[in-house]
Amino acid sequence: MCGIVGYIGNKKACPILIAGLTSLEYRGYDSAGISTIENDTLSVLKDKGRVKNLKNLSGFNSLQGTVGIAHTRWATHGKPSKINSHPHMDNSKTFSVVHNGIIENFHELRNFLTSKGCTFYSETDTEVIPNLISYYYNEIKGTDASNNIFDFLTAVKRACDKLNGSYAIEVISKDFPNYIITAKKNSPLVIGKGHTENYIASDIPAILEYTKDFYFLEDDEFAVISKDNIKFYNKSLNEISKNFKQISWSPTAINKNGFEDYMLKEIFEQPDSVRNTINSRLTENGKYDFSDLNLSNEYLQTINKIYIVACGTAMHAGLAVKNTFEKLCKITTQVEIASEFRYRNPLIDINTLCIFISQSGETADTLAALDLCKNAGAKTIAITNVLGSSITRMADNYMLTHAGPEIAVASTKAYTAQVTLLTMFSIHLAEILGICDKNLIEDLKYNILCLPDKLQKCLNTNKIIKDFASKTFTEKDIFFLGRGIDYTTAQEGSLKLKEISYIHSEAYPAGELKHGPIALIEPGTTVITIITDESLSAKSVSNAQEVITRGAKTLLITNIELSNNNFDTIINIPKIHPFISSILAIVPLQLLAYHIAKNKNLDVDKPRNLAKSVTVE
Ligand code: AGP
Ligand code: GLU
Repeated sequence: MCGIVGYIGNKKACPILIAGLTSLEYRGYDSAGISTIENDTLSVLKDKGRVKNLKNLSGFNSLQGTVGIAHTRWATHGKPSKINSHPHMDNSKTFSVVHNGIIENFHELRNFLTSKGCTFYSETDTEVIPNLISYYYNEIKGTDASNNIFDFLTAVKRACDKLNGSYAIEVISKDFPNYIITAKKNSPLVIGKGHTENYIASDIPAILEYTKDFYFLEDDEFAVISKDNIKFYNKSLNEISKNFKQISWSPTAINKNGFEDYMLKEIFEQPDSVRNTINSRLTENGKYDFSDLNLSNEYLQTINKIYIVACGTAMHAGLAVKNTFEKLCKITTQVEIASEFRYRNPLIDINTLCIFISQSGETADTLAALDLCKNAGAKTIAITNVLGSSITRMADNYMLTHAGPEIAVASTKAYTAQVTLLTMFSIHLAEILGICDKNLIEDLKYNILCLPDKLQKCLNTNKIIKDFASKTFTEKDIFFLGRGIDYTTAQEGSLKLKEISYIHSEAYPAGELKHGPIALIEPGTTVITIITDESLSAKSVSNAQEVITRGAKTLLITNIELSNNNFDTIINIPKIHPFISSILAIVPLQLLAYHIAKNKNLDVDKPRNLAKSVTVE
C-alpha cells in the first residue's frame, strides 16, 4: 500500500526518487511527492495523481539536491489532494516528512500541538509528525546553537513515542543537510547499502537496480543515514549493530520481459516459479527437506490442530491445501481470514500449529493474527515470497515460495507457489507422523514433479480463453461453480475476475446454488464450472445442468472425459492428482480475468482502489 523512497549520496536525488516511486507504483496510490535539500532549504513538490505528473510541476527541473525523500500516498485521512499529499513540513519548515501508515491518535496530538500554537494545513494524520518533531527539537535544543545530529534523532524518537498506530517514516531537516532519519512500526521499510550512497524504500524492487545489500529495520528502531554511513539505534537510542542481507533477485525480474503487462508475464512464469519452489525443498533422493524449520519430531507429534491464516488470494491458497493436510496428516485444519481471526478469540494453545501465508509478508491483518498466536504460545510458521519481510522476522520460522518478485496487484504466481509449497510441507509432516498411506504419498510426490510441465500445457489455453473473453467482457455478473477443491479454485477465479475486470462475480459450491443463488440465473448468464475431481464429477455435472436448463451460457474447465454434457465451451487441462488440481485449474481462470480486463481497456496491473501490499487494517 503506497510507498516511500529515500536517497542520500553524491548524485542528484530527484531522478533516483522518481525512478523508485515509479517502480513502487504497483503497490497502489493516489498522490505523489518529493522533498529534497536544496542549498540548506527544503524543497517540496507534490500533487494528487500519477508520479509522472510531478515532472510538470514548476521547480522540478531545478532540483539539484543529493539528499531527498519521496512518497506515494494511499489516502487514509483526507481526500487525495495537493495539500494532503506528502511530504509534510512543520510550521517552521525545518523538517520534511513522508509517512506510510496511520496515526490513530492524531486528533489528540493535533489538539496538543494546536494548543502550542501550531497551525495545520492538511487533513492528514501525518502532519502531526513533522510538527511533533519540531516541538521536541526546540525543547531539546533550548539555547544550544550547535547542530547535533543526536538532538535531531532524539526529537524523532520522542515524536515516535507519542504515535499510536503504524508508520514508516523518513525525515530530512534543513538543519542537518547530510542526513536522513528513518523509523518504523508495523509498516515496511528497507535500507539499501551502496558505496558512498544509501537508499531507503518500502520494498526491495524499488531500489534493486542500485544495490543487493539490504538492512531490515525492526519496529521501534531508528536509522541515521548519511552517504557514507548507516547507524542503527534501538528504542532507548542505544546504538545497535545490524547485518545486511544479500538479495538474489535480479533486477531483470522486475521488467515486463516483452509482455504487455506484469500480470500476463507472471501468469506465464508459473512453470518456472513452481519449479523453483519445488526445487527449493527437494533433495537428491526425492525426499523433502524442511530441516530449516527446526520442528522436532516430538513437537510435530503433539500438534492437534492447524490454523492457516491469511487474506485474499493467500487465504485461498490455504483453502486449497486444507483437505490435503487433513487427509494426509489427520489433523483438523482450519483456514481463517486474518481480519476476522484476530478479533474472534480463537482457541489456540501450544499444541496448535499456526501457519500464515502472505506473498508480501507485510499484510497488517495477517501480521496481527500472527502476533496473537505467538502470544497464545502456539508455534508460528510463515509462508512468504519476500525475504526480509516483516512476517519472516515475526514468525518462529518461515518458508520462502521462490516465485520471484510479483509486481501485478492481482496475485497469480504467488498462489500456485503457495499451494505447491504447502502441499509439500503437508507431505513432509505426514511422512514424519507416519500415519499416511505410503502409496498416496508417492503418488502425490510424482504428481508434484509433473506440475511445471503441466502448467506449461495449461498456458496453451490462452488462445481459446482469449476468444471466450472477447465474447464475455460485457457481462455484468459471472458465476463460478465447483465442488471440493474445485470450489476453492472457483473462489480464487472469481476474486481474480472481480479485482481486475470489475465484473461482479460469485463463487458457489456447485451443490449450494439451488439453495438460493440459482434465482439469479437468467437466460444468457455466464456460469463457469470447474471439474477436476473424478469422484465428484457426476454431481458437479448435474448441478451445472440445473443452470443450463435455465438458459445459462456455460464454460467448463476440466481434466476429465465427461460424457453427456451440454456445456457451451470446454477447456481441457492436464490430468493431475485432485489434491493439487487447483494449481493447474486456476491458470485458465487467471487468463480469463486478464483478457476480460484487456477487452475492457483496464489497467490490469494497477486495478482501481487496490494496493499490492495492504499494510493498514
Ligand atoms: C490478490 O490478487 C489480492 N490483491 C489480495 O487478495 C492479496 O492476496 C491479499 O491482500 C494478501 O496479500 P499478501 O499475500 O501479500 O498477504
Ligand atoms: N495516513 C497517511 C495519509 O492519509 C498516510 C497514508 C499512506 O500510507 O500513504 O496521508
